[in-house]
Amino acid sequence: MEKMRVTLLAAAFIGSGLALPASAQDANIGRNLAASCVTCHGKNATRTGTLDGMPKNELMQTMKDFKSGARPATLMHQLSKGYTDQQVELIGEYFSKQKAK
Ligand code: HEC
Repeated sequence: MEKMRVTLLAAAFIGSGLALPASAQDANIGRNLAASCVTCHGKNATRTGTLDGMPKNELMQTMKDFKSGARPATLMHQLSKGYTDQQVELIGEYFSKQKAK
């Protein structure tokens, strides 16, 4: 009985310990990936505009449309092909959490 309780506690402890670093790591990956977008979509980018505050779904859909060619582009159609759906999701997550200026 006592042994089982200890095992459960240990499982809960390990579980919570793993959950935190994993999500923090995702946030870092998203930010790092987004850094290459900010070159052109930074706050001072006059030609393209910032992506800050863009809803995640909108960014993901737009990237999908660029990839498929459904949305015409001068260079985003090429660029979007360099990212997996999972990476685009992390990027979208990041930008959706930035304050729109
Ligand atoms: C080399 C410059 C450049 C980089 C880097 C770049 N973009 Fe773009 N982006 C553009 C341009 C230019 C457009 C306008 C469409 C076109 O002509 O390709 C655009 C348009 C967009 C749009 C549509 C904006 C709107 O208001 O509808 C989204 C979304 C977008 N980019 C996402 C991204 C993401 C995500 C990244 C990083 C993975 C990224 N872009 C990196 C140049 C860039």
